Amino acid sequence: MTADQIRAHIDPIRHEFAEPRSLVLPALKFAQTEKGHLTREDLEAVSAATGFSAAFVESVASFYDRLYLEPTGTRVVSVCVTLSCMLRGADEVWERLCDREGVSHHGGTTGDGRITIQEAQCLGYCDRAPCIQVDADETVGPMTPESAGQLVDDLRVAPAPDEFWR
Ligand code: FES
Repeated sequence: MTADQIRAHIDPIRHEFAEPRSLVLPALKFAQTEKGHLTREDLEAVSAATGFSAAFVESVASFYDRLYLEPTGTRVVSVCVTLSCMLRGADEVWERLCDREGVSHHGGTTGDGRITIQEAQCLGYCDRAPCIQVDADETVGPMTPESAGQLVDDLRVAPAPDEFWR
């Protein structure tokens, strides 16, 4: 994505941000909609559009779970591993899902390129722990290793989302 495209997106919302550096996040989110992840060129375009250094932009991009510096699968499955979920079996859900899908226990993308599995911190769904979020919009729980596997199988055959904001 180009700096001009990013400027066109953030200029109308600039006034909403008292702190100018807060614009970096919506700029990154917008840049990610093009390919589903952020390239070096995207980070440089965000830097040019916002006026903040590429190093600062990259530090923001690398901090947030939903901003990706590498290509992801078509769908992103985030397994909450924070306390409430952990106490209710999230570790078993996580490990068995990773093993089932052939990714390391650090997470990753399945061999068919369809599904990225990642850890997440509290998803605000503690009353349904352990829970999983699909992309950035659907959270489900309580999950078992079996239901998590079924969820991934269902995602494999579901239509891909229209847009790459995750
Ligand atoms: S700890 Fe998992 S949703 Fe809160």
